[in-house]
This record gives sequence, C-alpha cells and structure tokens, in this order.
Amino acid sequence: MKKIIYACMVSGIASGFLPAVMSAAALDGEAVFTRNCSVCHSIYPPPKSAPPVIPLANRYHQKFATKEQGVAHMAAYLKKPDKNQAIDAQAVSRFGLMPALTLPDAELKAVSEWFWEQYNPAMGRGRGMGRGWGMGRGQGQCINQ
Ligand code: HEC
Repeated sequence: MKKIIYACMVSGIASGFLPAVMSAAALDGEAVFTRNCSVCHSIYPPPKSAPPVIPLANRYHQKFATKEQGVAHMAAYLKKPDKNQAIDAQAVSRFGLMPALTLPDAELKAVSEWFWEQYNPAMGRGRGMGRGWGMGRGQGQCINQ
C-alpha cells in the first residue's frame, strides 16, 4: 500500500512539474500557447475573448480525420485567419476574427499539435466539463487504487 501511495505521489509530482520543466524548450506547444494564446483563449469554458481550447479541439477532431490534416489547417489559420476557413463561423461572429500571429512556423506547428491533443471526448456535450482533468494526467489512476 505504501508503495502505491508513493508511486502516486511521484507521478503526481512528475505530472505537475513536467510542463514547467518542458517550457524551457522552445518548441513545447503548451508553453507557446501560454505565451501567445492564453491571453484570449482559456482552456475550459467560460471563454475569455475567444472560444476555449477544449471545445475547439473537439471540433477539429470532428472535422479532420487525421492529426496531420487538423494541424495543417490550424497552423495555416493562425498565420492568416480567414472567416471562410473557420471551423466555426459562429465563433467568428461572436468573437470577431482572430488576429494573425507572427510566430515561426515551428512554433505554430508545435502549438497546433498541442492544441489537437487537448481533445477530450468526454467534454463534448458541454456540461460538468472536466473538473480535475488536465491538471495532472495520471491522477485518475491514483483515485482508483
Ligand atoms: C487576440 C486574441 C487571440 C489570440 C492572441 C489568439 N487567438 Fe485564437 N482565436 C481568437 C478568436 C477571437 C477566435 C474566433 C474567431 C476565429 O475563428 O477567427 C480564435 C480562433 C482560434 C481557432 C479556431 C480556428 C479555426 O480553424 O476556425 C484556433 C485553433 C485558435 N484560435 C488557436 C489559437 C492559438 C493556438 C493561438 C496562439 C498561438 C491563438 N489562437 C491566439 C482570438 C485569439
């Protein structure tokens, strides 16, 4: 039992610390997001001045069959937002068109890949969304033990 608790603590600590450690790397998508996107995009509803990440990522997964296609569309959109290309026309009328971002291609790709991975099918329907999710992956395992 002690061992299990220890393992959970370690994995909790590891998952808590990992993003901080990784943000040192230039191409960590989450760090790119925090620096360049989080001022407008929250991860979870309610929105700031743009649609939150999780519902957007869910839409991308509905619309694109592969990560490659989704990431390609997103990276192109971030460079040159276009309401005819928007995956959610309502978002454009509600929030206005997103301003173009002048980030290096590698960062656009990294952040788009990270964004795509934020997909959470359990949150698709909009209610009771995701408490306790996303803060430390792996916590769920501990609760069951
Ligand atoms: C100044 C505010 C602002 C910033 C900064 C911003 N966004 Fe947006 N974003 C918006 C708004 C507003 C929309 C909704 C309208 C639209 O789709 O153009 C949007 C839409 C989107 C979409 C949907 C695109 C689609 O295909 O329809 C994605 C994905 C996105 N943002 C990702 C990002 C990422 C990643 C970053 C950082 C690299 C970022 N945004 C930075 C305001 C912002």
